[in-house]
Amino acid sequence: MKNEKIRIGVIGTGGRSKDVVRRLLNTWNQIEISSVFDPDGSRVKDFLAATKSEGAKVCGRFEDVACDKNASWVMVFSPNCYHMEHIVASFEAGKHVFSEKPLATTIEDCKRIYDAHKRTRLIFATGFVLRYAPIYRKAKEILESGRLGRIISLAASENIAPDHGAYIMKNWRRLAKFAGPHILEKCCHDLDLLNWFTESLPSKVSSFGGLDLFKAENAGLPERLGEAGRKAFAGWHDPAGEKCPFKSDKDIIDHQISAMLYRSGVSGGFHATLSNAIPERRIYFSCSEGTMITELYSQTLKFARIGEKEEELSFKGDLHGGGDTVLAKELGEAMIQTKQPPSGGEEGLCSSVVALAMDDARVKGAVVDLEPIWKRLGQN
Ligand SMILES: NC(=O)c1ccc[n+]([C@@H]2O[C@H](COP(=O)([O-])OP(=O)(O)OC[C@H]3O[C@@H](n4cnc5c(N)ncnc54)[C@H](O)[C@@H]3O)[C@@H](O)[C@H]2O)c1
Repeated sequence: MKNEKIRIGVIGTGGRSKDVVRRLLNTWNQIEISSVFDPDGSRVKDFLAATKSEGAKVCGRFEDVACDKNASWVMVFSPNCYHMEHIVASFEAGKHVFSEKPLATTIEDCKRIYDAHKRTRLIFATGFVLRYAPIYRKAKEILESGRLGRIISLAASENIAPDHGAYIMKNWRRLAKFAGPHILEKCCHDLDLLNWFTESLPSKVSSFGGLDLFKAENAGLPERLGEAGRKAFAGWHDPAGEKCPFKSDKDIIDHQISAMLYRSGVSGGFHATLSNAIPERRIYFSCSEGTMITELYSQTLKFARIGEKEEELSFKGDLHGGGDTVLAKELGEAMIQTKQPPSGGEEGLCSSVVALAMDDARVKGAVVDLEPIWKRLGQN
């Protein structure tokens, strides 16, 4: 392992950047921040203090971070709609890039990013943190061992708690012009896992959903549920300013169900909702010779071969099932050794495209055929 310092530029210094960069710097003392940009000076200050990087250069434009001669990597943590300009400028300036998911908010922008990565041949790391979580690595190992035969069908969900849903409906995520649809912004992690587990891509998708809870007419709901209900909807604070999650202007939806047919023949379903007393992030794998169920809130994995006793494994990780700790380790290794970490541009491209196609299917009320899109993107 090389010993020289790795210097990084950071674009967007909000909540996620603070967490990822702090873990990275705490794990690797060879890595340090060279420059930062965020339009909100208070968040820059907060970030530099949290990462003990007060000596870093504070830039007034993202281009100055992208072109920072002292940095070899740029890390992008801006809202999703800005990812394309930030990532492409960084590749064009010769930097390796880590970007948070999703890649971008349109298929065209995803393509621009992916093309810039391929053209420049620089390393592209993406923040699909669940690929680093021990529970999902174990699930992948079990599937690959063949003990359960092959996946026939799967059903996955991301049904989050009221405080998390309320945060989304207060934050920039409530507007598709910044975040893209909820299924993209939040669930691209899960859709990426399904691509990984099936070793395939959806060929066709259909989808239904709407906005039926976080509406002005339901603003009295937390109050009606009493003290416990009020607490259940509170808790997640938006540093950009508090709003009523029911009355806020928004154009994303709060419930969606999608059906997928993978190229491999696997059928799948995906359920996403934003206010649940029993939150669940679950994948049910119906396999030819057995069954497996993963659930991230409880960090449990159950599996059995047909006719045999069920085994249950428990995991104990902090945020994202421990994925953030592993990501800091493996991303740092990739930076120091100039190598590709486990989650890259292809994962970013494919999961974003699946999510965007699902939302397109919902809006059109039609089955969307992804094959022409995959062909255009070179995913044959
Ligand atoms: N992998 C994960 O599990 C995970 C978790 C949370 C967030 N994220 C992703 O991280 C990114 C940031 O999310 P967050 O939770 O930190 O949001 P946040 O609201 O906490 O921070 C966003 C930051 O971007 C800044 N910003 C706004 N416009 C900008 C611009 N034009 N250029 C640069 N910066 C700009 C804001 O001032 C703010 O500081 C998003 O893409 C989000 O999807 C990923």
